[in-house]
Amino acid sequence: MNDDRRPIALIGLMGAGKSVVAERLGQRLRAPVADLDALIERESGSPISELFAREGEEAFRRREAEMLERVLTAGIPVIACGGGLVIEPAPRDRLRRDCRVVWLEVSPGEAARRIEATRGRRPMLGNGEVRSRLGELLREREALYAEAAELRVTTDRRTPDEVVDAVLAELRRA
Ligand code: S3P
Repeated sequence: MNDDRRPIALIGLMGAGKSVVAERLGQRLRAPVADLDALIERESGSPISELFAREGEEAFRRREAEMLERVLTAGIPVIACGGGLVIEPAPRDRLRRDCRVVWLEVSPGEAARRIEATRGRRPMLGNGEVRSRLGELLREREALYAEAAELRVTTDRRTPDEVVDAVLAELRRA
């Protein structure tokens, strides 16, 4: 299934479904899953919105790059990355080199619908209109997602299980 021994890392915009797809991918592969955001929250004892408010974005980027290192060292086979992990060159290069990186693509409109209820937990959205902010983040980041990713999988109009099927099919084909 995943003959290549490198871990599968899911990247993409908030609302792409990285966490839920990683969870289900882990179930299908009977493999442990690491969700970097969830691990950072658990370890720090603070929600990400609070970490951003208290320490700022730069400190959060350091935390997530460090968490990626630890998860890779531990050999966890399925990783859900935060949407901004690709911003810094070091984690981006590490992903590209040492993981099978799948970019879960989502349109800003669909992502906005999916995350509407949890926008308060998402400091990068600010207070403006969610869809246009997501469009802006996608424009800023799409070249970085593309650089890190080996594969792309569309998620609009697909259920998480359909996305898992597509991810597994793409991984097998590649
Ligand atoms: C961020 C995405 C979030 C989280 C943090 C910053 C971003 O993760 O890491 O709020 O910069 O896009 P998800 O993509 O899992 O929501």
